[in-house]
Amino acid sequence: MAIRLIVKDPDPVLREPAKEVTKFNANLAKLLKDMAETMYDAEGVGLAAPQVGISKRVIVVDIGDETGLIEMVNPVIVEQDGEQFGPEGCLSIPNLNGDVRRADRVVVSGQRADGTPFTVEAKGFMARAFQHEVDHLNGILFTDLAESVYDISERTRKGGE
Ligand code: NI
Repeated sequence: MAIRLIVKDPDPVLREPAKEVTKFNANLAKLLKDMAETMYDAEGVGLAAPQVGISKRVIVVDIGDETGLIEMVNPVIVEQDGEQFGPEGCLSIPNLNGDVRRADRVVVSGQRADGTPFTVEAKGFMARAFQHEVDHLNGILFTDLAESVYDISERTRKGGE
């Protein structure tokens, strides 16, 4: 495994629609492992492949609860309902947070590293993390959606995605 460099806004890879994964091979398995290691090293709660410079539809999420690490390939939000409004950050946009309106519950369908389909239901903060990461695959950053953006460089920063 290896910690990869996290690309920062305004790197153009963050604005490209990421490509669907069609090959479930050793490269993909390594990418997922590296992304998880990179996310933990940066104390983030989620990471999308474009954030390590790879324009593929791959995400990892771990909000630090009993669910643990979720690795998902080709994720699609198939259901969403409710509403939550709260602060969000991003490992690719250091020193900024913003208040973003999100669905409070999502159902996300995708594939495991070996191509097996699976579905996750997420609520609250985990639902927010999934929406944030799927946005990354579509070239959308939280600053595009935030109703307010504020500088947090003077504070302890945790929970970036
Ligand atoms: Ni992010």
